[in-house]
Amino acid sequence: MRMYDIIAKKKYGGELTKEEIDTFITGYTKGEIPDYQASALCMAICLKGMTDRETWLLTDAMMHSGDTVDLSVFGNLSVDKHSTGGVGDKVSPVVGPVVASLGCKMAKMSGRGLGHTGGTVDKLESIPGYRTEMNREEFFRCVDRNGMAILGQSGDLAPADKKLYALRDVTATVDCIPLIASSIMSKKLAAGAHNLVLDVKTGSGAFMKTVEDSIALAHAMVRIGRSAGRNVQALVTNMDVPLGTNVGNALEIEEAVRVVRGERKGDLYEVCMAICERLVSMSLEIPVEKARRMSEESIASGQAFESMKKWVAGQGGDVSVLEHPEKLRPQKEGRAVRATGDGYVCAMDTEAIGRAACVLGAGRMKKEDRIDLSAGLEVLKKTGDTVRTGDCLTVLYGSSEKDLDEAEWIYRSALRIGPKAVDRPTLIYASVSD
Ligand code: URA
Repeated sequence: MRMYDIIAKKKYGGELTKEEIDTFITGYTKGEIPDYQASALCMAICLKGMTDRETWLLTDAMMHSGDTVDLSVFGNLSVDKHSTGGVGDKVSPVVGPVVASLGCKMAKMSGRGLGHTGGTVDKLESIPGYRTEMNREEFFRCVDRNGMAILGQSGDLAPADKKLYALRDVTATVDCIPLIASSIMSKKLAAGAHNLVLDVKTGSGAFMKTVEDSIALAHAMVRIGRSAGRNVQALVTNMDVPLGTNVGNALEIEEAVRVVRGERKGDLYEVCMAICERLVSMSLEIPVEKARRMSEESIASGQAFESMKKWVAGQGGDVSVLEHPEKLRPQKEGRAVRATGDGYVCAMDTEAIGRAACVLGAGRMKKEDRIDLSAGLEVLKKTGDTVRTGDCLTVLYGSSEKDLDEAEWIYRSALRIGPKAVDRPTLIYASVSD
């Protein structure tokens, strides 16, 4: 079978067979198919689309291009979540302890941040001693004993996707729903959980900018999950404003700890509860309303916080920062950025807010960049809020006046303050289960 014929078939809108898709993925992973042919096929897929069957076959081929994790020892209790990425997204360290306290098993592999979005592994490294690497036996032991573990991605999960994603990034073929859905799902399915909730972010801080595209992506991923025999549900949630208040690694862990301790509610708590209720309902096979009550009760009773301490201690982390989350706050005073007039926050460019955090040192623009775990910012006024002259819009934490000046400029430009009140944005746009 020639790669030329596979490209030509897709160019004319044909439906690729399993054999054709496997030939492409196997050949490309081994380096037998050159980048120029792989990029021609990706472009043809962008222009002609893929059926559900092709999308599933592509996912399956990429999932099996490398290692897979077998979580069958945990039966129906294995759970995972995935966010398509945003600003201030510290959902995993809240959801994990809640669902673990209720009997679920979360064996999670997470990534590092790149560009304006943060990564869970970087955030967790702000807990002194927390190990983001361990061997498979230790990983399984932690999950078994503590109900959860979160590690950095290791091994060789979906190498075909790694190679293809890098190629798509430079050939204008990222924004294509079958390619995005198969890319994300090949990694999540390889990671092995039976029950999965996907948080598809939508808006100015997300890579999916419209609700319609985000819902279409959510459906595509849920259908792939069904083809794989897994329980998958998706939420489409707002990323037109940062999630919660804190952006930056240690600051985000501080906020997550406060939510788990029952000290903070608001948008972060609501998104976490929406994910918890679905994971708990799917894995314990109980009605979603009951799963919601149990999740809320876990936080209110302190059960989730106990579970968080067990998890962090199990991975070598210093539990005193959970008992005293103020220890995670920057040691020096931040720069308060104040409003220069009266009005209402009408809109926020959330991607720019993520960039401001990056400039302060909280994120990396290139994979090799070093990050400052204590850097970041607090978002004190969000879309829908009233602003009076002198009100503090944000507090910035960085290490040089130059970075603070640049971040302040970016932050001010990212806020649109106008004379008319606007509604607070919708938090959860859709829930997708088929
Ligand atoms: N994230 C992924 O993992 N893959 C894509 O294609 C897009 C975003």
